Amino acid sequence: MKAKILTLLKTNAPEYVSGEDISDSLGVSRTAIWKHIKALRDEGYIVESHPRVGYRLCGMPDRLYPEVINEYLKTKTIGSGIVHFGKTTSTNDIAKELAQSGALEGTVVIAEEQTGGRGRMGRAWYSKQGDGIWASIILRPEQSPSEAPKITLLTAVALVKSLAKSGVNPGIKWPNDIMINGKKIAGVLTEMNAEMDRINYIVVGFGLNVNAQVDNWPVELRETATSLHTEKGFVDNRAKLLAEVLFQFEEQYLNFKNGRFDLIAHEWRCHSATMGKLVRVVIHSQVFEGTAIDIDEDGSLLVECEGGVRKVISGEVFLI
Ligand code: BTN
Repeated sequence: MKAKILTLLKTNAPEYVSGEDISDSLGVSRTAIWKHIKALRDEGYIVESHPRVGYRLCGMPDRLYPEVINEYLKTKTIGSGIVHFGKTTSTNDIAKELAQSGALEGTVVIAEEQTGGRGRMGRAWYSKQGDGIWASIILRPEQSPSEAPKITLLTAVALVKSLAKSGVNPGIKWPNDIMINGKKIAGVLTEMNAEMDRINYIVVGFGLNVNAQVDNWPVELRETATSLHTEKGFVDNRAKLLAEVLFQFEEQYLNFKNGRFDLIAHEWRCHSATMGKLVRVVIHSQVFEGTAIDIDEDGSLLVECEGGVRKVISGEVFLI
């Protein structure tokens, strides 16, 4: 009933809807309407009420509720199920639990805040309340596990393309760091459950710093990270941006499923902050330097070193 009242308010906004009209069209008592309006306000909707006139919707919450995202969402599969948390440990962990119990491909898990947000290499991912988009997508591609690294690259492509639509111009540092002016604005963490020859599920999580005020961050992050707010100077609509990321993701994921990694790789190269750059590669205790020259057909980074071209499948890359 709450959702129906919300729809009615949205349809009529910014005009008032009388209590009587709500009551007549939805067959609900005045007392029940009042309770649902209170619940909507608790969720962050700004609903004005006026005696004898009724109720009107004046503002949507800055929360990533499914119904708010659905206002903007243009996808077919990705986001067909959305699970929202005010606060949780890590959306990747929750998505893995859901996938384990049969959640469908395209299910998206979102949190306003993560208490145990994780990044690559076992690092923590700073994910405070409402500061950004912390989300994970469940995928069930019928492909070999060796294809999984491509998911990281295609997610990075979806993020840069969405950010570009938001008015900034980030680049991708192989494989998954989205950078603006040398600082990280977003990252991707891909995790997989697989057998030798088949993927059971993949969870791809991304963290995108949207409205974070960098001055409030821990000192060590201020040096290395940035947010959309910092780059553009004003607050962004997270729900609209997330819907765009999911849309761009779906487009690239279809390319992946159709065996068109060449299209993804092309986009990746166009938005790369790594190609042609001098890089230091760290793989466990092994360190070497060279020039990043390309990515190959499996998504590995190709680095031209003194002894020849080396293929980097995993590891960390620093621009030098
Ligand atoms: C990285 O750059 O190291 C990857 C960061 C990935 C962070 C996201 S936030 C949503 C999802 N849940 C997590 O715990 N991590 C990813």
